[in-house]
Amino acid sequence: MFNAPALYAMWGKRVLRSLIYRFPPIMIAPERLYLWMDTLIQTQRVPGDVLEIGCYLGGTAATANKMLRNVSAQKRYVVIDTFEGFVAEQWTEDHALGTPAQLKKHFSLNSTELARWVLDQHGGEEVEIIKGDIVALPDDSLPSQVSACLLDVDLSEPVRKGLERVYPRLQPGGVIIVDDCEDNDYKARIGYERFVRSAGLPEEYKFGAGIVRRHGA
Ligand SMILES: C[S@@+](CC[C@H](N)C(=O)[O-])C[C@H]1O[C@@H](n2cnc3c(N)ncnc32)[C@H](O)[C@@H]1O
Repeated sequence: MFNAPALYAMWGKRVLRSLIYRFPPIMIAPERLYLWMDTLIQTQRVPGDVLEIGCYLGGTAATANKMLRNVSAQKRYVVIDTFEGFVAEQWTEDHALGTPAQLKKHFSLNSTELARWVLDQHGGEEVEIIKGDIVALPDDSLPSQVSACLLDVDLSEPVRKGLERVYPRLQPGGVIIVDDCEDNDYKARIGYERFVRSAGLPEEYKFGAGIVRRHGA
């Protein structure tokens, strides 16, 4: 539920969006943006869709979709987000693990309408939006086959559960990139470690991202 200052901030974002978002709002670190773009190039011939879980305003999705179009890769790009920031119980769990209180409302001033506008402005016109919690979305709303996934939801449980749900859909040669697995305020790495250990997969890190691969292409 929005309070009055939050409503004013949302209204301001809406009225000033042409100015505020005249460049794509990309929230991922540049070295991991490179890793994601390179992963998309490397997996362009793997069957399945591209999935970004945790897209915020869609700046990365728009830019990545534009790149895929520029290189003539035929890919469906799907984004999933609550578009309301963190889910309360998932936040509480990570706050108990040490994520600072001031990060609680990060990403909460958002909407599917604003993300759609950003996507349409910056090359993501074909990007498909799904609104919901990756932990709770129905199975049949997720793409059945995935070639590449950027899992960027910051908190431990949606990372663990997101991997548990996407890995069975990952096609041979496919790759999942988990953002924020370096030592920072977020506990994404805990979710990554829990998943790979329970699935018997190797831990692999590059530029602070955790990587999950489906071998056998
Ligand atoms: C760091 S931002 C994503 C940034 C985006 N990938 C980019 O590069 O610009 C994290 C996003 O994860 C979303 N998120 C957090 N928990 C989620 C959950 N359980 N299900 C879906 N989205 C979630 C938040 O709403 C927020 O928009």
